[in-house]
Amino acid sequence: MAQAAAVGALLGASTAFLAPSAAPAPAPALRGAPHSSRDSTGPGLAGAAGVGAAALGLGLLAARPAATACRAAAVKKKGVKVVHGKEIPWNLFSPKAPYQGKVVENDVHKQTLTEPTGDANWETTHVTFDHGGKVPYIEGQSIGVIAPGPDKKGEQPAKIRLYSIASSAVGDDQTSKTVSLCVKRVVEVDGKFANRQKGEDKPDKAGTAYPENQVYRGVCSNHICDMTPGDEVLITGPTGAEMLLPEDPEANIIMLATGTGIAPMRSYLRLLFHDKAGASSDGGRKFKGKAWLFMGVPYSKSLLYDDEHQTYKKAFPDQFRYDYAVSREQKNAAGQKMYIQTKMAEYAEELWEMMQDEKTHVYMCGLKGMESGMAECFGPIAEKNGLVWTEFAKAMKKADRYHVEVY
Ligand SMILES: Cc1cc2nc3c(=O)[nH]c(=O)nc-3n(C[C@H](O)[C@H](O)[C@H](O)COP(=O)(O)OP(=O)(O)OC[C@H]3O[C@@H](n4cnc5c(N)ncnc54)[C@H](O)[C@@H]3O)c2cc1C
Ligand SMILES: NC(=O)c1ccc[n+]([C@@H]2O[C@H](COP(=O)([O-])OP(=O)(O)OC[C@H]3O[C@@H](n4cnc5c(N)ncnc54)[C@H](OP(=O)(O)O)[C@@H]3O)[C@@H](O)[C@H]2O)c1
Repeated sequence: MAQAAAVGALLGASTAFLAPSAAPAPAPALRGAPHSSRDSTGPGLAGAAGVGAAALGLGLLAARPAATACRAAAVKKKGVKVVHGKEIPWNLFSPKAPYQGKVVENDVHKQTLTEPTGDANWETTHVTFDHGGKVPYIEGQSIGVIAPGPDKKGEQPAKIRLYSIASSAVGDDQTSKTVSLCVKRVVEVDGKFANRQKGEDKPDKAGTAYPENQVYRGVCSNHICDMTPGDEVLITGPTGAEMLLPEDPEANIIMLATGTGIAPMRSYLRLLFHDKAGASSDGGRKFKGKAWLFMGVPYSKSLLYDDEHQTYKKAFPDQFRYDYAVSREQKNAAGQKMYIQTKMAEYAEELWEMMQDEKTHVYMCGLKGMESGMAECFGPIAEKNGLVWTEFAKAMKKADRYHVEVY
């Protein structure tokens, strides 16, 4: 029963910006939920449900945000953060007391998503962890992973690395007990740093090795990319409030991703167009707006989740648009390298119009250079309309319609 309640609470709550179709069972009070227990057993499932139901309250608590906010203000709760009057799960597990999860087989995606390109860092993986329902999260958040190390300065275990969550709140298997990441394997050959001297580099799980060279292998990304079902993983978080979806089911969503910056976008798209949690009682989707994904990758062999995007495009042609820029294979009419902003420039008028609509949200994730790319793309059109792009972008940010997580 407790398990069913936990899953139900998480499923209902995972609708993020979507109001629940039926009144949920009363959420167990957060106070008293065993947040303090962070040992290997973690909070019990019922405790996790308590956290989930209230913490994932973007949807569940939509009808009573003021009361929720007041309660949260009065009692500073562990494991939740109040964002725009709603509670979201927050740092349930710290680096000192992480959750110990297990790697599980993912029947939605094979682990390696990309194909060899000739570059040392060609591999990006999709890895799924079982969290037993104890690390609830919502779309747009991140978790931390602690690798055994040694880290750059020899620390063991290594310091945490953050990863954007690539699965929706219910997880790829829709049990609310798994979380998936999209991780690029960092491999640098004969670069500035090395943690394998000549002769030391051994084939990784994908079979790549550079025994003739000095190699730097990213500490945590290699730890994750080499994982096999059954392996243990140390998880912290969840964290992150910048990339959350709006509550309005009629919102429009423009997504801009370079490389693994696709992770949060995948999380949104699973909820919007795939999961049972995003389906309405008439068999349609709760999401009624438009979603437009722009993705930038170096090679067509590195197009991440292309199969899923093509499926959504086919099934929801009036709601989902998908464009990509393959930087090392495509050029625009002027012979320029095809970056995400070069591709967007082809639709600048249409995108600009969309952004004038208060229901439109822009999400950007990946390389930092995308921000100046946006200025290149929209600067001229903003000027034509008597505006300055940077000011317009600032106003959108202030209105919580321009969400940026770049690194
Ligand atoms: C919010 C957030 C979300 C993220 N989401 C994702 C995601 O979804 N997917 C993803 O793949 N990544 C993501 N990242 C990046 C991720 O956190 C890691 O930074 C990435 O995986 C590399 O970690 P690593 O341990 O493998 O590499 P590291 O071992 O940390 O190496 C990183 C770099 O440090 C350099 N280096 C080595 N030694 C030294 C030294 N002594 N001094 C200085 N530099 C040195 C190396 O040359 C290398 O380029 C995200 C980052 C943030 C902040
Ligand atoms: N939440 C977060 O903060 C978050 C989440 C996920 C990932 N990330 C970060 O995002 C980055 C993604 O890197 P990746 O290695 O996965 O990507 P990648 O596979 O190398 O793809 C990046 C693409 O962006 C292009 N590009 C380079 N400079 C650009 C610019 N100024 N403007 C637009 N596009 C540009 C690249 O082109 P060329 O290489 O051909 O020049 C390439 O096509 C990583 O640094 C990762 O840490 C951050």
